[in-house]
Amino acid sequence: MGQIPSMQPTGWFQVGWSTDLAPGEVKPLNYFASELVAFRDLDGVVHVLNAHCQHLGANLAFGGCVVEDGIQCPFHGWVWNGKGRNVRIPYETKPNRARKVRSWPVTEKNDSIYIWHDAAARPPMWELPEWKDVLGDHVRERSYHPLDDAGRTRFERVRVHPQVIAENAVDPHHFRFVHHTPISPVVLREETDESTWAAKVGFGRRWVVGEDRPEDTLNTIEIYWSGIGVSFNGEETKEGVRVISICSTPVDASTSDIFATYWIDRGGDYAERVAVAKMALPDDIAIWNHQVYMDPPGLAPSEAAGFRQLRRWASSFYPEHDEVADMSVAGSS
Ligand code: FES
Ligand SMILES: [Fe+2]
Repeated sequence: MGQIPSMQPTGWFQVGWSTDLAPGEVKPLNYFASELVAFRDLDGVVHVLNAHCQHLGANLAFGGCVVEDGIQCPFHGWVWNGKGRNVRIPYETKPNRARKVRSWPVTEKNDSIYIWHDAAARPPMWELPEWKDVLGDHVRERSYHPLDDAGRTRFERVRVHPQVIAENAVDPHHFRFVHHTPISPVVLREETDESTWAAKVGFGRRWVVGEDRPEDTLNTIEIYWSGIGVSFNGEETKEGVRVISICSTPVDASTSDIFATYWIDRGGDYAERVAVAKMALPDDIAIWNHQVYMDPPGLAPSEAAGFRQLRRWASSFYPEHDEVADMSVAGSS
């Protein structure tokens, strides 16, 4: 059995929802085996820094407070700005320009807060989209119930690697057994590039032949992965359209937090539709929590190409990617 891929993948990863942080609010975060502090400055911009003050190591997330020019350490009052620079020492005339707290690129969209992670500290290599721009006109043109507490769930410390969740995009047959659909969905279209994996999947008899009809979206899911951390799924049924975002963020070497967000279009009973939308993921999590990573997996002929292609795509997000590529040439088996 092969090694589980690195839990330090490159990409955008969700760390919360916009409503988690009011202006001036400070929260501790724990991702990528690092202690972090998130705060929303007085202009409303979210920043994420490594948690520990570079003076004497106090944790800024516990007692630190947002001031005009950044976050103020609870221990001796040093102020660090959103870029991690020291801008003020209350008892000196000059700040300490030599020390910096690591600052993480942040983007806020889709009612969510995401950070960019790269083990080599390279800057963001792609922009994270709004789901409205990537799931097709039939999804964009609807009007949605505003996101509320019922529309989001965080599952903490699930024993899963983000790639395993992304493999759902090429795994139609688990739907019959995990989600009890009468027949497996079929992949109607698939497009990938370095950072994205997009597909259209059809459910039920309507799509059994497996041929895409671009204008026909009933009983389909538009799937969009931005790296292995962030996914959007736009699903149309006769009840309407719902968009489900499943994002996973490594916490440590074996667990990830999963952020699930549900946007339901207006029409029908919101409470009931959001409850139905939320039913599927816990069934997946029950599998993931006890699954081991099979490499290579024992794939059936009809699914082999999809899984191989997805794993090849995912491998580019790992820090040891270059090493792995070299080894496969050397081993040439
Ligand atoms: S430890 Fe932060 S100001 Fe001293
Ligand atoms: Fe699933």
